[in-house]
Amino acid sequence: MSYDKASDYPDVFHHFAVAESERAAESCYLYAPVFPSRVGGVKAVIKRTTGPMSSAVAISRWVRALAEQGVGVVTPLRLDSDNPAQVGDRVWVAYPWVDGRPYNGSTADIVAAGDLLGRIHAAQAPTADMPRFPWPDHDADSVEEDITGLQRVLGKHAPEIHDEVLARMAPWLESFMTETLPPVRDGGLPRAVVSMDFKANNLVYVDDEPVLIDPDNAEYAPRILDLALAALLFHNETATAPPRLFTGAEWAAFSSAYGRHVRLTAAELALWPTVLRYMLLEWGVWTLIDADEWDDWDDPHKRNFLVDLATVDLGRFPLPAEPYNSEFH
Ligand SMILES: Nc1ncnc2c1ncn2[C@@H]1O[C@H](COP(=O)(O)OP(=O)(O)O)[C@@H](O)[C@H]1O
Ligand SMILES: [Mg+2]
Repeated sequence: MSYDKASDYPDVFHHFAVAESERAAESCYLYAPVFPSRVGGVKAVIKRTTGPMSSAVAISRWVRALAEQGVGVVTPLRLDSDNPAQVGDRVWVAYPWVDGRPYNGSTADIVAAGDLLGRIHAAQAPTADMPRFPWPDHDADSVEEDITGLQRVLGKHAPEIHDEVLARMAPWLESFMTETLPPVRDGGLPRAVVSMDFKANNLVYVDDEPVLIDPDNAEYAPRILDLALAALLFHNETATAPPRLFTGAEWAAFSSAYGRHVRLTAAELALWPTVLRYMLLEWGVWTLIDADEWDDWDDPHKRNFLVDLATVDLGRFPLPAEPYNSEFH
């Protein structure tokens, strides 16, 4: 486990015409190659993305459309060379460096984040070539893999919650394909282009307004899944966030700011508890297991977050039973 080295990617820096003296020697991020650099004379970051070039181009069209509508999000630098760019078999993108501060956990920062998420979901967005949200299809083996993964990771790092978590999660994981997936997949839930990664560590606050600096997982997906991801994972891997999920009061602040821009449908509100469970079983369980790969359970701050995630009562994140009326505009 170590930070990626810039010297391992000479073709990338050659493509973006970045000399050795204009780039950091190492990634600024443990989990992926993200290199602070000077590109075309401006402070920037060059990062590897996961999807194919067609997706990266669609995502760059989307963020440009958002920015034109005044929504706070980075857009790829306009350069003479391709950006995003295919280099070898991977795609890289250069974004301007956003000078600001991290999330500080205050109510004001939470409200501003909920407001931004609502603006993103409410924006007019081009959907051509956007990656489509892939519905999972788990067979018995992959369910078993999740259950044994949870047993292994909790047994090793949090034995005090092992039995409690497994007693709840194992039956939920076993019935996911019959009880949780179908109502969400077949529920006619409204779609939007969403980041599917709306977390505090993907925001930089400039003059107290958040800017989304990591749009690279964007998909055309049921927007309520993106809201559920934020409900559960907003504080994940963020050193400046409290070491736990949102409290009920924080969630109320976040979700009502979101509700200024998005009027959730009756179907979305009715399915919300199922959508939260969906997100816990898909992203949440993966987060708990994957954290072991990065020794995150050994970090007390991250460990406290993970324990809260594993044991969370989903009733902590209610939405009103009826569509919002009052503040919507
Ligand atoms: N444009 C940017 N401006 C300022 N900081 C950035 C920028 N891009 C990335 N970072 C920093 O690097 C970290 C990792 O970058 P990110 O784009 O989120 O990588 P990943 O896609 O692997 O999650 C962010 O949490 C942030 O601290
Ligand atoms: Mg990120």
